[in-house]
Amino acid sequence: MTKIKIGLLGLGNVGSGVAQILQENAANIFKRTGKQIELKSVLVRDLNKKRNSNLTNVHTTTDAHSILTDPEIQIIVEVLGGEHPTYEYICQALQNKKFVVTANKEVMAKHHAELTQLAHQNGVDIYYEASVGGGIPIIQTLKVGYAANQLKAIYGILNGTTNYILTKIEEDHLEFNQALQEAQKLGFAEADPTMDISGLDTAYKLTILAGIAFKANLTLADISYEGIQSISLKDILYADEFGYKIKLLAMGQRTKNNEFCLSVQPFMLPKSHPLAAVRNEFNAIYVVGDAIQDAMLYGKGAGSLPTGSAVVSDIMDIAFNYPHNSRRNLETDFPNVKVLPADLQQNKFYLRLLVNDEFGVLEKIAGIFGKNKVSILKVIQKDIIAKQAELVILTHLVQQKDMQQAIIELKKLNCVQEVCAIIKVGLE
Ligand code: HSE
Repeated sequence: MTKIKIGLLGLGNVGSGVAQILQENAANIFKRTGKQIELKSVLVRDLNKKRNSNLTNVHTTTDAHSILTDPEIQIIVEVLGGEHPTYEYICQALQNKKFVVTANKEVMAKHHAELTQLAHQNGVDIYYEASVGGGIPIIQTLKVGYAANQLKAIYGILNGTTNYILTKIEEDHLEFNQALQEAQKLGFAEADPTMDISGLDTAYKLTILAGIAFKANLTLADISYEGIQSISLKDILYADEFGYKIKLLAMGQRTKNNEFCLSVQPFMLPKSHPLAAVRNEFNAIYVVGDAIQDAMLYGKGAGSLPTGSAVVSDIMDIAFNYPHNSRRNLETDFPNVKVLPADLQQNKFYLRLLVNDEFGVLEKIAGIFGKNKVSILKVIQKDIIAKQAELVILTHLVQQKDMQQAIIELKKLNCVQEVCAIIKVGLE
């Protein structure tokens, strides 16, 4: 009977989920792969820390090198997170001809081309299902399930922390900071939530997904991203009134000229769109293909067992084929593609302004929009606050650079006190 031995780098939230699934589901894993999979060694930071994981017959060590060079280990599972030293560990593992399974979105977003190439050169493979969407098998779906399609677009709610915060603002009428604190108290947000709320976490994930969906060699620099820090309860309530939900949305679109628009930002989605119904910490990915047309995958994007499930299914995929490497998962030849700079991308916009409540103001604002080719769909005077009028404006499709120029000019008007919010709108 073929035995496959695993070296696990990291025994935190995801690592302990991996250990638990490997132990509790061992009989099924054996039945499905025909291989006995054994957790041989685990890299930990502190050998004396008390843990819930059952580590009977598992060697724990603080020495990564001893695992990466162990000739008995065929698969290295990396669940440490962060770029360094994990990137170096993964390179060493591949150079030592070990298969790699990683949950590391940062490393995969930054080094995808080079790591798949290195795996190829060494006759092994690197799997990273757990790097995006936790318990949602989106990478396998894009690579295998939708292989027959030319994909036109991929939209995703890829960050549970921000989706939870936006849901709380909307449903409990909290301001951003209150919702963030609540998310931290309940363990949905990290003590330092910067990577989540700035949109960077989602941008890493979009780099990975759009690369696979469009078979394109993409880097983080191809994605323009912004976070949810400036989203206020007021805009969420106004969005609701107009028939929209605000979500932190990852967007990848193929244009008619085979160019690509890639962005991450707070976005107003019509309530009727399936992504608008994704609440709390859940993730979802909506894909448009020439054959499948529209499809959506939904589930938990993080957590010990959902992410552990993605890691273990990658291990099983490798084990099933082992010792052969059929390379169905290895795509090393993504070409460079033309990504449209954010400036040239087109969107509809929602704007909220505070202006002086006096005659002639609307005319000045409309003049600036007209001059910059920004066509207005609706203007609504929502409120009077301390003698200032609150205006909400919805535009037709406009090039981002024209909108930016209009905003620069609006801010120079004496009658405009503040541009409070600018949010993209669409997917009607
Ligand atoms: N911090 C991420 C989230 C989970 O909130 O979705 C791991 O990618």
